[in-house]
Amino acid sequence: MTTTYQMFIETIVPNNQLIVSRTDLHGIITYANDTFAEISGYKVEELIGQPHNIVRHPDMPKSIFKEIWESVTQEQKWQGYVKNLRKDGGYYWVYAEISGVYKGNQLIEYKSMRSPIDNEIKIAMQKRYDELRTNEEGQSRVVLYLKNEHIRKIQKLSREEGRSEDSIIDDFLEDALF
Ligand SMILES: Cc1cc2nc3c(=O)[nH]c(=O)nc-3n(C[C@H](O)[C@H](O)[C@H](O)COP(=O)(O)O)c2cc1C
Repeated sequence: MTTTYQMFIETIVPNNQLIVSRTDLHGIITYANDTFAEISGYKVEELIGQPHNIVRHPDMPKSIFKEIWESVTQEQKWQGYVKNLRKDGGYYWVYAEISGVYKGNQLIEYKSMRSPIDNEIKIAMQKRYDELRTNEEGQSRVVLYLKNEHIRKIQKLSREEGRSEDSIIDDFLEDALF
């Protein structure tokens, strides 16, 4: 459970800016431009050396990343919409193009250029990705209002048992519903 409202704060990618990154063949970030750092809330030094899933948002369906990796390992360009997670828990949407970097004929790295998208597309893609996750992963995104006393108890259990709040709620539901 993400109890933080940061999760709902969007950072807008300015129209004249491109987010650029490169990774090695395992998806470890080797280059990040200043715009990537600024929009994701990290410093460039914090991004370099990290797996690119550092900005993976929980709303993104697994199948999209499968598609990305299938394309790039077959040396094909992937283009599509991605919702990314900021360091502070907020998010930003981009249109991304991911492809290979070649030295002569040899594939040595992957690169990605990302640009801003319109609001209508963001809304349509959120709906599409919500549906994909529901169908493919048997999981739906829900926003709940819980009583403060219940939240406090869940947080206490989470600390005591060293488990996520999500997994505690899952267990309660499992017990109550089955
Ligand atoms: C060049 C390149 C750029 C990528 N950019 C992103 C990105 O912006 N956001 C993202 O979530 N995954 C991106 N990925 C995919 C990640 O490597 C990773 O597969 C994804 O975050 C899912 O994480 P997981 O594979 O650990 O489940 C990129 C991969 C490559 C090769």
